[in-house]
Amino acid sequence: MGNTSVVLRNVSKQFHRKTSGPLTALSDVNLEIAPGEIYALVGPSGCGKSTILNLVAGFDHPTGGSVTVDGQPVSRPGPDRGVVFQEHGLFPWLTAMDNVRFGLDVRKIPDSAEKAQYFLRAVGLAGFEKHYPRELSGGMRQRVALARVLANGPSVILMDEPFGALDAQTRLSMQELLLDVWTEFRPTILFITHDVDEAIFVADRIGVMTTRPGRIMTELRSALPRPRTYHDLASAEFGRLKEQILMSIREVIAAKTE
Ligand SMILES: Nc1ncnc2c1ncn2[C@@H]1O[C@H](COP(=O)(O)OP(=O)(O)OP(=O)(O)O)[C@@H](O)[C@H]1O
Ligand SMILES: [Mg+2]
Repeated sequence: MGNTSVVLRNVSKQFHRKTSGPLTALSDVNLEIAPGEIYALVGPSGCGKSTILNLVAGFDHPTGGSVTVDGQPVSRPGPDRGVVFQEHGLFPWLTAMDNVRFGLDVRKIPDSAEKAQYFLRAVGLAGFEKHYPRELSGGMRQRVALARVLANGPSVILMDEPFGALDAQTRLSMQELLLDVWTEFRPTILFITHDVDEAIFVADRIGVMTTRPGRIMTELRSALPRPRTYHDLASAEFGRLKEQILMSIREVIAAKTE
């Protein structure tokens, strides 16, 4: 596995649009995420965060440069990389249990029911196996989406604003859940968020992106301990990171308006 899990080297991405010229979404992006690291990406809307995630997921391909996961070039989506979006993407006609089992059954993995149950329990949903998505709250649906990803045993979890649609209180409990899940399974996590506090609370490192064409402008390493609690939100280290991130974001915005 080596000492890197996700590597983007000199990655660029152009989109070809029918009605106007090509659009350069990413230019010269370099990113290395270590195995078991939680890396948060913040940056202005449209800077290319989701584009990066899509390249790592294998939903799209770079125009230039390389994207590798555990040393292998990414060519297509795979169960080694689980994706959680803001919208849970559950099948509404399947129960929580059957949503989590679905991918396992497609891949003919044995004991899928037991595995699904185990991961639903891990995200705090024991007793809700037979509920349909419409019978669950927004936070619970995101828990099912996370259980579905975990059931595949991914080495990398890619999360694009996963808690963005949740109310503040649910969001906090989901952040804690994510850290619990990380403690238990130690996946590598790429976590995209607009919320600076959220980025600091969950991440080992935080990358701040420039406006389009996006690059990673600054990377900050967190010295917050693990396991983390909400007391850490009031710590000096939290304040230091927040100030630095906000300063970087201001620089990005200032550079845009020059
Ligand atoms: N399939 C596509 N075709 C054309 N342009 C695209 C496509 N996907 C993304 N883009 C453009 O690439 C740029 C980066 O988009 P991306 O979705 O990665 O931004 P983002 O940082 O995730 O933004 P947000 O924070 O709003 O989610 C944007 O200008 C967007 O319009
Ligand atoms: Mg996005």
